[in-house]
Formats: sequence, C-alpha cells, structure tokens
Amino acid sequence: MKNTINQIAEVAGYLWQKGWAERNGGNITVNITDCIDTSLKNAAPMSPAIAIGKTLPALHGQFFYAKGTGKRMRDLARLPMENGSIIRITDDCAHYEIIAEKPVMPTSELPSHLEIQNYLIETGGKYRATLHTHPIELVAMSHSPRFLDSATITHTLWSMIPETLAFAPLGLGVVPYALPGSLQLADATLDEIKKHDVVLWEKHGVFAVGENIIEAFDQVDVLNKAAVIYMTAQNMGFAPEGMTDEAIADIQRVFHLPTHR
Ligand code: 13P
Ligand code: ZN
Repeated sequence: MKNTINQIAEVAGYLWQKGWAERNGGNITVNITDCIDTSLKNAAPMSPAIAIGKTLPALHGQFFYAKGTGKRMRDLARLPMENGSIIRITDDCAHYEIIAEKPVMPTSELPSHLEIQNYLIETGGKYRATLHTHPIELVAMSHSPRFLDSATITHTLWSMIPETLAFAPLGLGVVPYALPGSLQLADATLDEIKKHDVVLWEKHGVFAVGENIIEAFDQVDVLNKAAVIYMTAQNMGFAPEGMTDEAIADIQRVFHLPTHR
C-alpha cells in the first residue's frame, strides 16, 4: 500500500508542476483492495455511510484511496493521507464510509471515479487507477467545436509525434460539457471509457484510467504533449502537416497496437 500511496503523491506533484492543478483542481482515486491489511479492513468507520448516488454492485467489498474535496494536489504531494482518505464501500454497494486516516470528505468527482472503477472491475482487467486533471492545451482545444469529435481530435494528436499513437493507442474520447461532479458527467464518461483510456471533458479537463496512477498520468501527458506541438506550430504561423495516414497505420501494425479495449 505504501508504494501505491507514494505513486499517488508523486503524480500529484507532477500535476502541480505542469500547471494542471490550480488550487484544488483535479482528483485521483485508486483501488487499494488488494493491498489493504486486516486491521484497516475491519477499522471502525470515521463517517456515517454517505450515498454514492448510484448502486454499483461490482464495488462490493472494495476499498479506495480518494483525494479529498477542496484539497490541493501540491499539498497532497507532501501529505497524501491528510489531503485524501481511504473509503470502504458498504454492503448495499450504494454508500461508502471513510475509514482512514482522517475524516477527509472524498472528491466531488467521486461519482465519475466510482462509476468507472465499477466498470473496470466488471470487465476484469488490471486497471486500478482513475485520474481527473485540467491539462491546459487539451482543455484549450476543447473550446473549438471542430475538436469535439473523438475521431478528429485523436487523429490530430496522433499525427503530431509517433509516441502519442504508441502510448495512447486507444485515442481520446470526448464528453460534451456537463456539470462538474454530476451523475450525468459520470454516465457520459463511462460511455467513452468503454472505448478509450483518456476522455476529454469539454471546457473542463480530462478523465483517464490506468493500471496504476503513473500509467494514467503518462497517457494524459503524451496526449497533452501532442496538443502542445500542435499549438506551437500554429503559433509559428503554420498548420502542422501531421504524419500521413500511412505512417500512422504502419506504427499500428509494426507495434501491434490495440485498436479497442
Ligand atoms: P475536488 O476538489 O472536489 O476534487 O474538485 C476538483 C475538480 O477538479 C472538480 O472537477
Ligand atoms: Zn475538474
């Protein structure tokens, strides 16, 4: 568990350094059920049972680390257990209780995190981490209707540099603007996460999944790097040419990249 918490703190520091985590911006949730010890498993709750807003059956018996609402990534980087908490899903799969280390209320985006964590368990993969952050250039692109189409923005980003395609092979999904923290945002995110590891929230940020929080961060990082290259070329006064479709197809073939989940 120490290793998982250290990774979360490490990524929180990167998010702050990149300028993606102004004030309390962004949140992290990691499924820690596999590494929770017996004393913590049976710990008395520090909070009443709090409604998730949905019943999520695959979350039965699961434990998560979640960033606290209103908490800053730059503080979490130093003190992860004071700026986040460990929660246990109650037996009805519709509530959670805080069990450690302090009664810090989880992030306002918990509906999205838990709905996607529920899906990740249902589909039986190795993914344990969910990340929401505010990457500047990707959010800027989401202000153009032209890029609010998954195929268009994915092709633009993939064609900027081969590594984007190699390390974000499922591309970028797009979720139309919805109220932060809402179930509507969570439901729309789930639909897109079924096809992509990273989803763009229009005029807000991104939501990403990964085997661990480092992997989730890396996918956002490579996609945002491509957005920076795109914008840098535009700022130099020309539209970037982009790799050809043939070059993109070659990389998909040679590196046996997955094209769907
Ligand atoms: P929290 O402080 O509740 O995690 O909210 C931050 C955020 O980015 C909401 O979208
Ligand atoms: Zn946000």
